[in-house]
Amino acid sequence: MKKVLILSGAGLSAESGISTFRDSDGLWENYDVMEVCSTQGWAKDRALVTEFYNARRKDIETKLPNEAHKLLARLQKRYPKQILNMTQNVDNLLEKAGCTEVTHLHGTLTDLRCESCGEVFNVGYMPQEVDDTCTFCSGAIRHNVVMFGEMAPKYENLEIAIEEATLFIAIGTSGQVIDISAIANRFEHAILVNPKQEKHGSSGYNIDEFFEYFIQEKASVAVDELETLIDDFLTQE
Ligand code: OAD
Repeated sequence: MKKVLILSGAGLSAESGISTFRDSDGLWENYDVMEVCSTQGWAKDRALVTEFYNARRKDIETKLPNEAHKLLARLQKRYPKQILNMTQNVDNLLEKAGCTEVTHLHGTLTDLRCESCGEVFNVGYMPQEVDDTCTFCSGAIRHNVVMFGEMAPKYENLEIAIEEATLFIAIGTSGQVIDISAIANRFEHAILVNPKQEKHGSSGYNIDEFFEYFIQEKASVAVDELETLIDDFLTQE
């Protein structure tokens, strides 16, 4: 059974009004990433980090999925078990669009987690108090987003998906955290969706050079072309 790995990033949700990280108006222009998204920042000022994620959680409450999220939900229904949906996004727009099986590689905004026992609590869009404690073990509670300086346990699922799939699709990611060029290199068939031609680190290559097919469009504009390519790939011998 053919499988398609779809790895999305902040660009997927950009047209829904959620800021990306590294674009000119992105989050890391307005916040110091090491202060709000690193283990050092967390150790230094838990109140500041908690406030940052409370604002992110509140921000997604009213946001709606766009045509690209809806395409991924439609494909998952059309090809059950053949679409491996992995996202770096911590929002819930894929779920709002109707996706049921999404691997959130960098965690989820709508959950909090106990630092001691690991219990996960769904809080929806409610703010966290910095001194909240776990109802099971009284441990300290934290946001459920992976920070720089800690392991991302779900990367194991990504590695398994890379082994299982024969078509790789990257949508709306700069490739600066997960090296999508290296992933594309492991596939015979790979499609990139990004309105911008991104550089591959300091290698001098453009990321799209590692892909068989580059749709240089915003995610919602790429929807029809992408759907046709995936349909063709999964239905042809
Ligand atoms: P980035 O902000 O690094 O990259 C967003 C990409 O989306 C850029 O390449 C844009 O050109 C592209 N883009 C912008 N608008 C788009 C649109 N309408 N359609 C398609 N693409 C568009 O975001 P990520 O690569 O997702 O980690 O960032 C990876 C990780 O870095 C995030 O998960 C986050 C951050 O630090 C954590 O918070 C743990």
